[in-house]
Amino acid sequence: MTFRLRAEVSTDEISGDICGQVASGKLTVGDKIKVLPQAKTATVSAIKNHDGSPENEAHTGQAVSLELTPQLAIRNGDILTNAKNPVESSDQFEVTLAWHDKHPLLSGRPYRFQFGTMFVHGSITTIKYALAGTDNTHQAAVTLTKGQTGVVTISLKQAIAFTSFEQNQILGSFGLFHRKDDEKLADGKIKFALRRASNIHRQAINIDRSERAKQKNQRPCVLWLTGLSGSGKSTIANALETQLLEMGKHTCLLDGDNVRHGLNRDLGFTDTDRVENIRRISEVAKLMTDAGLIVITSFISPFRAERQMARDKIADGEFFEIFIDAPLEVCEQRDEKGLYAKARAGLVKNFTGIDSAYEAPTSPDITIASSCISPDQAAKLIIDFLEKNAITL
Ligand code: ADX
Repeated sequence: MTFRLRAEVSTDEISGDICGQVASGKLTVGDKIKVLPQAKTATVSAIKNHDGSPENEAHTGQAVSLELTPQLAIRNGDILTNAKNPVESSDQFEVTLAWHDKHPLLSGRPYRFQFGTMFVHGSITTIKYALAGTDNTHQAAVTLTKGQTGVVTISLKQAIAFTSFEQNQILGSFGLFHRKDDEKLADGKIKFALRRASNIHRQAINIDRSERAKQKNQRPCVLWLTGLSGSGKSTIANALETQLLEMGKHTCLLDGDNVRHGLNRDLGFTDTDRVENIRRISEVAKLMTDAGLIVITSFISPFRAERQMARDKIADGEFFEIFIDAPLEVCEQRDEKGLYAKARAGLVKNFTGIDSAYEAPTSPDITIASSCISPDQAAKLIIDFLEKNAITL
């Protein structure tokens, strides 16, 4: 007796009847099952087919509902499997991905993955290669475009029970979606799990973040400045840090031009590199808030998805998106580094605002019209906002 059934329940946590599809094998009343990934066991006490009539057994592909003894809280997407021969769980996989969207795949960007009826957040961690031609030759790739298939690794926010596509086509396939809308971007097939997640444990640390913040007499936060090149981000960030320092606050300033000389010196300005740039910065900003610091970041950070990713990483109420809003014409006129002129002449490629997109914030915490006020006034406005919200007090 072997079977695997993916549960489809209508609410997150219910007890009682469990609906699902037998993904493989034969399920019989009296079978001992294990629910994954929770790893709880129970016995199948009844099987009912779609019209509610009782059955003694169910076979591959059949949609059924079950009663378990004892009743277990089953979550949407859980897998019920033979108790003695359970399937594995993992949160990191190597997969084959067939890309359908007109926008190319961006490694590092958060996406939504659908396994059966369950949605899990995660991201593509590496693009290993694309498959080319009828013989699927491996081809070096940094992205996948519409119609391309490739092999990538994925990392999910939670472990899922799975089998490889080769073993079982139902349990081994998934869909990939935008974080928020329902348009499917790609179809995936699981090749195998990367064992990393189960081998890397978190180390417990004696001193926690609240003690570090208390010692500094402040509430840590991230002040995330975003805007076009030349909008005044760096100048405002500097003025802001100076004023906070004068107030006795402990700060750290991360600036695009500086970070790109060190930590991110391997990154350029393609969409993929910008996503990775912001992913690394948000991880660093998170570590610094754990250290109790007020972190000021000054990066174009042109894409909404990555600014949202940064917000999601930082503790609730500690992330403030500050839009340094200056019209492109003003930034281009200032052109302090001469980069706009070079971009217009085609000498600098993928320049934000010229031949690379800037997605302005839709609901920033603060908007600074930097062409109308001085950097010191802008910094003062930000500090007033923080004081009003009792952030730095
Ligand atoms: S981001 O888009 O990935 O957030 P980041 O803020 O780190 O960019 O770096 C932007 C700075 O790099 C600009 O202020 C500018 O001085 C410089 N730069 C060089 N090439 C480009 C480019 N193609 N697009 C934008 N900025 C560029």
